[in-house]
Amino acid sequence: MSNRPKLVVANRKMHGSLPDNQQFMQSLLLHTQQHHARYAVCPPHPYLYQAQHILQNSHIAWGGQNMSRFEKGAYTGSVSPVMLKEFGCTYVIIGHSERRQRGHDSDESCGERFEAALKAGLTPILCIGETLEEYEQGETDLVVVRQLNPVIAHVGIQALSKGVIAYEPVWAIGSGKAATPQHVQAILSFIRGHIGLLDEQVAEKMDLLYGGSVNPSNAAQLLSMPDVDGGLIGGASLVADDFIRICQIANELTDLRTAA
Ligand code: PGA
Repeated sequence: MSNRPKLVVANRKMHGSLPDNQQFMQSLLLHTQQHHARYAVCPPHPYLYQAQHILQNSHIAWGGQNMSRFEKGAYTGSVSPVMLKEFGCTYVIIGHSERRQRGHDSDESCGERFEAALKAGLTPILCIGETLEEYEQGETDLVVVRQLNPVIAHVGIQALSKGVIAYEPVWAIGSGKAATPQHVQAILSFIRGHIGLLDEQVAEKMDLLYGGSVNPSNAAQLLSMPDVDGGLIGGASLVADDFIRICQIANELTDLRTAA
């Protein structure tokens, strides 16, 4: 178990508006001022300018929810890593299952975009996780390895540690049914072990998040698991009070971790 501060990331998906985002970010700033945990907000792309305006020079980072692997060109509707960087992003989510499912993101393209994000100076948050069917077949380990290996093959094990991995079982996302803390711990420990086969130090310092129906009631149990370095929060990031509560829990756990 590391003593890294917990990392809590709001994946606001295709939600929000200028007034709602403002209220959300300002109350988050206000209520987490003295915290030691790490926070980031990922709004839809058009609101990155607003996030930059409100969060710059604060303890809260921001990021994109997706990006192209190309720097520029004839890719209508896409956003480049350089553009995200220009709007001050620290993070970018890569390979979210809502994109994988619609056929936009293959395992291979996640490797390319992970690399492009690092090249632009962004921290990629790579999402991996099994579907309900794969879970029921007991294939979770196979699936996460299948999704992780092309990224490792692409960037190498050292560069992997410059990113973050979010384990998000597809069946837990937006379903209200989070995975049990025991399942999350088992899979994150498996992922860390898999990385450790290649490089133990990288495995040790790798930030591993859990995402999928985290809410203020289950956050303490999930985030206190030894291999869980933080959470990627969807639905509960739409209500400022809920997200702030999760941040408070992460901060308390961070203080416990650092005191240990
Ligand atoms: P959820 O979403 O918290 O609403 O389950 C998590 C995610 O999709 O990242």
